[in-house]
Amino acid sequence: MTTRWITWLDERLGLSAIYNTVLDRKVPKVNWSFTLGSATLFLAVTQATTGIFLTAYYVPHPEQAYASINYIMNDVAFGWLIRGIHHWGATLMVITVFLHMLRTFFYGAYKYPREITWITGVFLLLLTLGSGFTGYLLPWNQRAYWATTVGTSITETIPFIGPFINEALRGGSELSTLTLVRFFSAHIWMIPAALFVLIGVHMYLVVRLGISHIPSEDE
Ligand code: HEM
Repeated sequence: MTTRWITWLDERLGLSAIYNTVLDRKVPKVNWSFTLGSATLFLAVTQATTGIFLTAYYVPHPEQAYASINYIMNDVAFGWLIRGIHHWGATLMVITVFLHMLRTFFYGAYKYPREITWITGVFLLLLTLGSGFTGYLLPWNQRAYWATTVGTSITETIPFIGPFINEALRGGSELSTLTLVRFFSAHIWMIPAALFVLIGVHMYLVVRLGISHIPSEDE
C-alpha cells in the first residue's frame, strides 16, 4: 500500500530523481572534518526554527525587550529551552562556520571548479557574523547596549564614510528605539533571507560539483 502511494507520487513529482541527485551521491573517501558544512547547515535551520518561536514573545522596544526575555526565560513553557538553544546555537554556528572554512581552505577545496562555492561561503560567513552582532543587542541589557555602542563606533574609523555608516546603523548619533528596531529587522528578516538564498546557491554548487577529494602529496 505504502509503496503504491510512493510510486504514485514519484510518477507525478519525480521524487526519486531528486533523492538520487541530492542524497544518493558518490562521495570520495573523506574524514570527519567534511561534516562541518552539514553541521553549520543544521545549526542554521535550528536557529531559524527557535528564532521564529522566540518572536512570539519577544518585544523589540527598549521598555519591554528585557522584560520580554525575562518572561520567556521564567514564565513561557520551555521558553528557557528554546532561548538556550538559540543562544548557544549562535555561538556554535560561528565556531562551526569558521572550522568549515578552515577545512575547505586547508584541503584547497576553493580551487577550480569551486571558486564560486568559496565566494558564496565568504558572504555566508559575513552574514553569520552579522546575525550574531544584531542578535546580541536584542536583550537590551547593559552588556548588549555597551557592546553595540562599541561595535557600531568601530565603523566610525572607516575613512570618509565611517560616520555615515555609524549613524545609519544606529539610526541616529546614539543607540535608541530606532537602533533596536533596525537590528531586530535585520536579525529576523534581512540577514536570514539573504543567508538562506545564499545557502541554496552554496548547496546547489555542492550537489552540482560534488565534494572535493583530499589532495594527494603530489597535487
Ligand atoms: C552558513 C554557512 C555555511 C553553510 C551552511 C555551508 C554548508 C556547506 C555544506 C553542507 C557543504 C558540503 C559538505 C562539506 O564540505 O562540509 C559545503 C561545502 C563547501 N563550503 Fe560551505 N557552508 C557555509 C559557509 C562556508 C564558508 C564561510 C566557506 C568559505 C569561505 C565555505 C566554503 C565551502 C566550499 C569551498 C565547499 C566545497 C567543499 C568541497 O567540495 O570539498 N562554506 N558547505
